[in-house]
Amino acid sequence: MKNSIVINADVEKGTINRNIYGHFAEHLGRCIYEGIWVGEDSPIPNTKGIRNDVLEALKQINIPVLRWPGGCFADEYHWKDGIGPRSERKRMVNTHWGGVVENNHFGTHEFMLLCELLDCEPYICGNVGSGTVQEMSEWVEYMTFDGESPMANWRGENGRQEPWNVKYFGVGNENWGCGGNMRPEYYADLYRRYQTYVRNYGDNKIYKIAGGANVDDYNWTEVLMREAGRLMDGLSLHYYTIPGEFWTGKGSATNFPEDEWFITMQKALHMDELITKHGTIMDKYDPEKRVGMIIDEWGTWFDVEQGTNPGFLYQQNTIRDALVAAVHFHIFQKHSDRVQMTNIAQTVNVLQAMVLTEGDKMILTPTYHVFDMYKVHQDATLLSVDATVGSYKYNDQEVPQVTVSASKDKDGKVNISLCNIDHKESASLSIQLRGIAEQISSLTGTILTADTIDAHNTFEQPEVVIPTEFTQASIENEQLDVTLPPMSVVLLTIG
Ligand code: AHR
Repeated sequence: MKNSIVINADVEKGTINRNIYGHFAEHLGRCIYEGIWVGEDSPIPNTKGIRNDVLEALKQINIPVLRWPGGCFADEYHWKDGIGPRSERKRMVNTHWGGVVENNHFGTHEFMLLCELLDCEPYICGNVGSGTVQEMSEWVEYMTFDGESPMANWRGENGRQEPWNVKYFGVGNENWGCGGNMRPEYYADLYRRYQTYVRNYGDNKIYKIAGGANVDDYNWTEVLMREAGRLMDGLSLHYYTIPGEFWTGKGSATNFPEDEWFITMQKALHMDELITKHGTIMDKYDPEKRVGMIIDEWGTWFDVEQGTNPGFLYQQNTIRDALVAAVHFHIFQKHSDRVQMTNIAQTVNVLQAMVLTEGDKMILTPTYHVFDMYKVHQDATLLSVDATVGSYKYNDQEVPQVTVSASKDKDGKVNISLCNIDHKESASLSIQLRGIAEQISSLTGTILTADTIDAHNTFEQPEVVIPTEFTQASIENEQLDVTLPPMSVVLLTIG
């Protein structure tokens, strides 16, 4: 079937918040330690302890916002353990993740330095589960108070006179689970109380994010919006793409049968339904869409690589992960009137990572390349798209074969991203470009694809899945004809 798509370049649907391309880095496995922080004395080239290769790779994808220190770790993290001379910082046990020693060498100052080097906004997640209101309040004072105060003075003693800007602050994480096993009614009350003391000092205006629902727990969203909606700027949602079962076998990242490819795509597409349904509840209490949906954990979650610590959540990353990322971005952009931020889990060496490291070596994953290709959508204007596409069928099930999103950048260039999630069949597309005919002067394309469903980059072969020039597109007047190979992500730019 010829898939037919209309891009309405003259029907603008608002700005795609650049924070949709946000990230998440937790004190988990080898994400922070080894992956980002190696320490100033490391033989691995670094900037004040942060490894240069990872830094350079991450700069390239324009990370807009970075969430830290967790995840589950956040509700056991006591920020005062992570400041002052590193040699004197408390050594603790990371009980959630592998039971390893956490030496607290990467703390508030180091995280803020990382954000400065990446030129991104920090998104701090505070501790509700095992922390006090005072502790949370003092953390905000420590980071943002300009003038004389106990916490600001302490910050100065630790080498930083100027306050930092902290825009995004999360009041706990997964409070229905690792963040305290609470009922929504109880957490809503705690949220109201804790957020009262998350103060705005000087010009620093904090965007407060309440801990939101797990997957399809719509009652959580209902209760939080009803009881605390007016006191929050954002409400989170967590959903991971897991082909198997969470506790009994999630499936392998690389060694998986064809039906797991299909199931993975089907589960990735489920994000659309979740946003629609949680969004409908939010609309009831917030029809102006003031409160952002903050999907601050998403991505693939597979069984850990054989021989690695089960608590470190280290997994490889294939062309399948790239497709999952592209599918998600198309969904997030479609809902960009409500979705104000998302944070993929996680940046380095954990779950659906951008980069993997081994000692002093680093490789880029297929997912990284999607972030790199799609950065053109950040802060661009979303365009209206009408798509009539065929199905990708597997056994007795079917999903749409092609997903698409389009935006216009500040120079008037139109970027169209497409993905063909079918692992066997190519897709012919007939795309009508409405509203830009007289401006078309050039067409360029980039493709990310592979020959096998498990194709991935390794330290020995780091360039198995990389973007290349795309040539299977032609344009005449308003008509664009494209052939997408199986399992491919394509970005077309029309100037
Ligand atoms: O990203 C890994 C973990 O998944 C996070 O710590 C937690 O919030 C979620 O359950």
